[in-house]
Amino acid sequence: MRIVMIGAGYVGLFSGACLADFGNEVVCVEVDANKVASLRQGRVPIYEPGLSELVLTNQSARRLSFTTSLKAAGRGAQAIFITVGTPSLAEVGSADLQYVHDAAREIAEVVDDFTVVVIKSTVPIGAGDEVDRIIAERAPRGSFAVVSNPEFLREGAAIQDFKRPDRVVIGVEDDRGREVMREIYRPIERNGGPIVYTSRRSAEMIKYAANVFLAMKVTFINEIADLCERVGADVLDVSHGIGLDDRIGRRFLNPGPGFGGSCFPKDTLALTKLAADAKAPIRLVETLVDVNDKRKTAMAAKVVTACGGSVAGKRIAVLGLTYKPKTDDMRDAPSLVIVPELQAAGARIVAYDPEGVRTAKPLLPGIEFAENAYACLRGADAAVIVTEWDEFRALDLARVKAALATPTIIDLRNIYPIRAMRAHGFRYVCVGRGFGGEG
Ligand SMILES: NC(=O)c1ccc[n+]([C@@H]2O[C@H](COP(=O)([O-])OP(=O)(O)OC[C@H]3O[C@@H](n4cnc5c(N)ncnc54)[C@H](O)[C@@H]3O)[C@@H](O)[C@H]2O)c1
Repeated sequence: MRIVMIGAGYVGLFSGACLADFGNEVVCVEVDANKVASLRQGRVPIYEPGLSELVLTNQSARRLSFTTSLKAAGRGAQAIFITVGTPSLAEVGSADLQYVHDAAREIAEVVDDFTVVVIKSTVPIGAGDEVDRIIAERAPRGSFAVVSNPEFLREGAAIQDFKRPDRVVIGVEDDRGREVMREIYRPIERNGGPIVYTSRRSAEMIKYAANVFLAMKVTFINEIADLCERVGADVLDVSHGIGLDDRIGRRFLNPGPGFGGSCFPKDTLALTKLAADAKAPIRLVETLVDVNDKRKTAMAAKVVTACGGSVAGKRIAVLGLTYKPKTDDMRDAPSLVIVPELQAAGARIVAYDPEGVRTAKPLLPGIEFAENAYACLRGADAAVIVTEWDEFRALDLARVKAALATPTIIDLRNIYPIRAMRAHGFRYVCVGRGFGGEG
């Protein structure tokens, strides 16, 4: 099958590469000419485990290619996926659909034989109708069907999520469109991946509801963690104890510095706007957006408290900057609030991140970057673990202690056992584990 992806960002690139790996001929169309140039030379601009290899293999097999022009790529394609960004509209918070609408206008110029237009970008409910209208208006003789196929990948495990997903959701109301989608996802169906067919609007809703529910779990356990610190309980035992209940589930119950990333912050916000506009406000989600925003600032305050009430003139080592491990994605990362708050309080920041330094540098001015974790810790008055990269999980604690000027560690991801930290003579402050997070 000949498939086009519009947008070679995170979603377009990895889903394009995975669909090529299934044997399809995939062309990724991308407006950013620099991105296309580096992809053509085999340089993948984002860090995602296994992605470079997948792109290179399929490029050399001539199943995957990159271009800036939809005109040439789009003709004769059975499916054109829209995978462009849908960021928050500044000051409003709803999803900005300008890139999706641009893509729809470009598609209208190339559809003639039956083409399935697949919206993979996360879009508000009803956006598919608008894309349908834009294309129909400009290409009245074109034959096409607009389908919703939201993406549920987790950055850091994206390839596995695409090839062995919990489910694929397809919102389609056209029989020919359904057949093309079934063909595209046949390899996944054969692997036992459940495919959910529904209406276009329901598919759009499923994506928002799923993301918001997960964001709610994270926010819930963060608030329980705060309470644990007041009443002297251990949130890790609490999340284990509740997570064993099948109805609750164990995942997304790890307390931390608040959620970030390319999806949860903008999608939670977009759903609150959408719900308010539909006169069905979801107060639970409005509250979680507010709680999560405040949490990042509260984490900076936690560091200040752990440092004796002031960080002025102190050297603070920050381990991890990306919003989660195994990605170089800095979008809405908690570090983008925590680090500037500490700088504003007078701290000098030295940071290390295994993959995120290139993306973090322009976003975090005035900080020093270290080559590795131990170099980062050297001479610091305190260390803050912001992202739980695997390489921070088993640091040589004797070396850590020797490197730090003051043995204070604020672990916002709870990756170390309290007892071991005590035994090594650290002042160890974590999240939700006993009074004040001090065990
Ligand atoms: N990143 C994730 O983990 C994830 C997961 C699920 C869903 N999503 C959703 O998928 C969508 C894309 O997210 P992303 O993270 O891949 O975004 P991204 O910003 O990484 O990529 C979007 C790409 O589209 C390109 N683009 C924009 N307009 C274009 C056009 N007219 N023609 C060609 N290229 C164009 C941009 O230059 C950019 O490279 C969003 O709606 C997002 O919410 C993302």
